[in-house]
Amino acid sequence: MEYYVNTFFLLSLLTILFLSHLPQSAIAAAEEGNNNNNNINNKQKTGHHRGAKLISKVCQNVTQKAFCSSMLLSDPNTHNANLRGLGLIALKQAATNASDISEFIKTKLNDPNVDPEVQDGASDCLEFYIDAAEQLEDSVSAQISKAYKDVETWVNVAVSDSKSCDVALTGYDSVLGNKSEVFRWLCETALTINKMLVNKKKH
Ligand SMILES: *[C@@H]1O[C@H](CO)[C@@H](O)[C@H](O)[C@H]1NC(C)=O
Ligand SMILES: *[C@@H]1O[C@H](CO)[C@@H](O)[C@H](O)[C@H]1NC(C)=O
Ligand SMILES: *[C@@H]1O[C@H](CO)[C@@H](O)[C@H](O)[C@H]1NC(C)=O
Repeated sequence: MEYYVNTFFLLSLLTILFLSHLPQSAIAAAEEGNNNNNNINNKQKTGHHRGAKLISKVCQNVTQKAFCSSMLLSDPNTHNANLRGLGLIALKQAATNASDISEFIKTKLNDPNVDPEVQDGASDCLEFYIDAAEQLEDSVSAQISKAYKDVETWVNVAVSDSKSCDVALTGYDSVLGNKSEVFRWLCETALTINKMLVNKKKH
């Protein structure tokens, strides 16, 4: 009996020692293996899957499908966003681009080598793009309060601003290159998502 108890005690002690010396990573791996098909991994997969599925759905309805997908996927927050989240990201990308274009135009206005006629056009463009950025920033707030009609109106104003800039620079297309056109693609994505949000609200 005493022999049996001692053996039991010794075995328990050995087991405890063995377990406490197992590397943490091995334990973590074993635990992850157990959970593989239920919680953690699956949740992440579903989230990522939802974002990607939604992006392809949205980008089916724009003219520049590949551009639309690559812009939305470039923000990691889209990967498990719902439609409203995706809409906010699209609006912010367009707003950021309008400010970036404004900054770019400022460099042209400060460049003494740019000829005066171009400077005139560029100075109109600066006003248009500053307005476009404001319209888009206001659209972000409107989207948050689900004022989708305002979003539609204001994003369209931003698109018009950009077209007015093109007119102001007629004959000097190389100044902005494809920037105006690419900006309008960003707006198109934002408008498409907004339309989907409106349709969702109706149904
Ligand atoms: C946004 O604006 C800047 C303007 O300087 C431009 O260079 C950039 O390529 C634009 N497009 C995107 C998608 O960010
Ligand atoms: C816009 O033009 C620049 C070069 O000026 C080019 O690198 C870029 O790929 C163009 N963007 C698109 C979306 O066509
Ligand atoms: C997207 O396009 C399809 C077919 O072209 C159309 O049936 C659907 O209503 C459109 N969705 C949105 C949100 O515009």
